[in-house]
Amino acid sequence: MLKIINVVGARPNFMKVAPIVAAMKQRAGSFDPLLIHTGQHYDAAMSEAFFRDLDLPKPDTYLGVGSGSHAAQTAAVMERFEPVVLQAKPDWVLVVGDVNSTLACALVCVKLGVKVAHVEAGLRSRDRTMPEEINRLLTDQIADLLFTTCEDADRNLLDEGIPIERIRFVGNVMIDSLNKNLERARQSQIKEQLGLNGGGYAVMTLHRPSNVDHQETFQRILQALERITAEVPVIFPAHPRTRKTIAEFGLSERIEGMKGLRLIDPLGYLDFLALYSSARLVLTDSGGIQEETTALGIPCLTLRENTERPITVELGTNTIVGTDPRRIIEAAAAALNGKARPRSVPPLWDGKTAGRILDELVR
Ligand code: UD1
Repeated sequence: MLKIINVVGARPNFMKVAPIVAAMKQRAGSFDPLLIHTGQHYDAAMSEAFFRDLDLPKPDTYLGVGSGSHAAQTAAVMERFEPVVLQAKPDWVLVVGDVNSTLACALVCVKLGVKVAHVEAGLRSRDRTMPEEINRLLTDQIADLLFTTCEDADRNLLDEGIPIERIRFVGNVMIDSLNKNLERARQSQIKEQLGLNGGGYAVMTLHRPSNVDHQETFQRILQALERITAEVPVIFPAHPRTRKTIAEFGLSERIEGMKGLRLIDPLGYLDFLALYSSARLVLTDSGGIQEETTALGIPCLTLRENTERPITVELGTNTIVGTDPRRIIEAAAAALNGKARPRSVPPLWDGKTAGRILDELVR
């Protein structure tokens, strides 16, 4: 019987851990899973809604770290997580993604000599100004087992000197959640609530500090939106960080002035899935959404200069457009006019990744 601590901290962790914990509960003879929530995200819309939608069990321990500077948040997770590990004495700790909680918990484990596995290892944007890139690089250096979503991630890890024995290409566990919930999401009333019956629409999400914490960049994106919303309504569920900077930069009036733009609160997993899965176009700076749109064949424009997920560009529906308004407008027009290239879903994004992860842990 393997005792496993599964760590979640922030919104993009929940849909990765849910299928793993569910699979562990199904194999109760072999796995004894614990769920620890660091509390990096804590608003009901950023956390609770996902527990409900994804049928995640209540966390065994909630660390309640909350927001703070990178140092303060990372340190708080480490201080509060260490006693949990010492008490539980797990065989493995499983961390996912690239948020501060991921690195903090991995670091605690390696110092205690407790084995740690990283799900979604090896992704690299090669942009070290991104906090997530530092979290990825360091977590992968110290983790004992690295589960990857694609073969370019394996190559990145090998190039960094990580022994091949530590790497397992298992596919994309987020797509397990996507496939499992697509049918359930059809029950969502979100499109009716937003009055989107019938007509086409686009969806936008923005939360990267490089976009929303820089007034000039944010303004450039809004300039593009002024044109795009003249063609198609854009629904914009705004992250709390984004809401804050809209107010700070005095952008509320400009946003409210755009008739076709609907700024709404962050959505839960099922409502958001229902919304983007029927969209004509998605504009985003999220990592996960680049993958989800590729899995569903929805055109995606990534409002960043780089991606750690190049497979979504090579095989999928993603285009990297940066934040130059002209480029965004042109790419949006091409997508809305249906100028699509042949596309495919990357290998092992098949909804069966959690099972492969468990098989490897048992080995
Ligand atoms: C974090 C992750 C990022 C991930 C994103 C998804 C890091 C370094 N960043 O960024 O990789 O893509 O989550 O959402 O780990 N806030 C709330 N309520 C919440 C959470 C946050 O109001 O429940 C506000 C706070 O003002 C906080 C700010 O949002 O200061 C930023 O939160 P934080 O967790 O620091 O980073 P994210 O931008 O959410």
